[in-house]
Amino acid sequence: MYDENIVKQAIAIHTETYGTKPTAVSYAPGRIEVLGNHTDYNEGTTFSTAINMGHCFCISSSSEPGVRLTAGDIRETTTFDPSSSERLDKKIQWANYVKGVMFYLRGQNIRIDSVDCTFLGSIPMGAGLSSSAALEVATAYAVLEYTGKELDKKEIGILAQAAENNFAGCNCGLLDQFSSIFGVHHGLIHSDFRTLETYPVQLPDDVVFLMINPHIKHVLADSPYNERRISCEKAAEELGALLDHPVKALRDVSWEEFETHRDKIDPEAAQRAEHVIGEITRVEQGVKLLATGELEAFGQFLFDSHETSRTAFENSCNELDIVVEAAREAGALGARLSGGGWGGSVVAIVRATDAGNTCEKIIELCKEKGLEPTAEIIIPSAGATIIPRNA
Ligand code: GLA
Repeated sequence: MYDENIVKQAIAIHTETYGTKPTAVSYAPGRIEVLGNHTDYNEGTTFSTAINMGHCFCISSSSEPGVRLTAGDIRETTTFDPSSSERLDKKIQWANYVKGVMFYLRGQNIRIDSVDCTFLGSIPMGAGLSSSAALEVATAYAVLEYTGKELDKKEIGILAQAAENNFAGCNCGLLDQFSSIFGVHHGLIHSDFRTLETYPVQLPDDVVFLMINPHIKHVLADSPYNERRISCEKAAEELGALLDHPVKALRDVSWEEFETHRDKIDPEAAQRAEHVIGEITRVEQGVKLLATGELEAFGQFLFDSHETSRTAFENSCNELDIVVEAAREAGALGARLSGGGWGGSVVAIVRATDAGNTCEKIIELCKEKGLEPTAEIIIPSAGATIIPRNA
């Protein structure tokens, strides 16, 4: 299922802007990260879901060379050369995500030029719900449809990630792009970023996810994200020198090994590794807990995750801490910051029967602390898709 409303609006804006209907239309969802924070670039594992909000991307042919691109929400249009590797001005960062994907697709011999494009999304910007990854994935799907070419889904994820790394400046892993591509209706995605395999996991019927957005500005490329990645690589290297087996990434270090050696490595790197290795351990145990329906224990992992985000990885902030505490007090099974951190949203897992009440209570408690968050129930949704021509 895709967000039909956004697709209809995007097609209407495209038709109105360029005077012709699009011939290729795609849709890609945003994501919430449920567990496994900053594990993806450490070759670890995660739980995530694609969400019921996303980006629609439309293409039609044009007689002019280059790519004319309209951001549907602000009705701004820009033109660029898809063959150049140059980043566009930061003021039109939205065009860089698209340009980056088109540039890397050319590396796969999938070339697009002389086209008019429009995108429109329902994912709030800066909410930590991977609006940029959804735009990248939607771009790739629409270009493939337009050119009649095919590409393996993992390849699509990898080149969308390259666009994010090199055209937006965030050295992110693959979590956001994979979640947008491999999302499953009413299910979680368990991803392994070493093997690049993803596994759908059935979500028990009696729980739902809430997404609570305290509305703090969040731009990962301007955050310490890239520094954290370097610290994790340093920790892996230093732990590797102490262990008697190869360590390519933090994924290769068990919690027990970490505890034995943590005092022998750079203290800051050890602090960052504590969170990441703890997260990988929790995801692995979480797989079993979900299979046996131990939802309270699974929820506690979300609280534990937030705690080491706060104390060890230092990617939380006051507002996110307030929301997590409010969720705990309101009776959520678990809650944590979702995604990169330093802003963005909190994900909470709650019993389906009292989701509405819990949601209201969280908002009320946050208001007492001076926040004005919005909260909604997330519907885990299917991954990116091509929209049929008669839609
Ligand atoms: C952002 C990045 C992802 C991942 C998460 C943290 O969403 O884009 O690659 O690292 O942060 O888990």
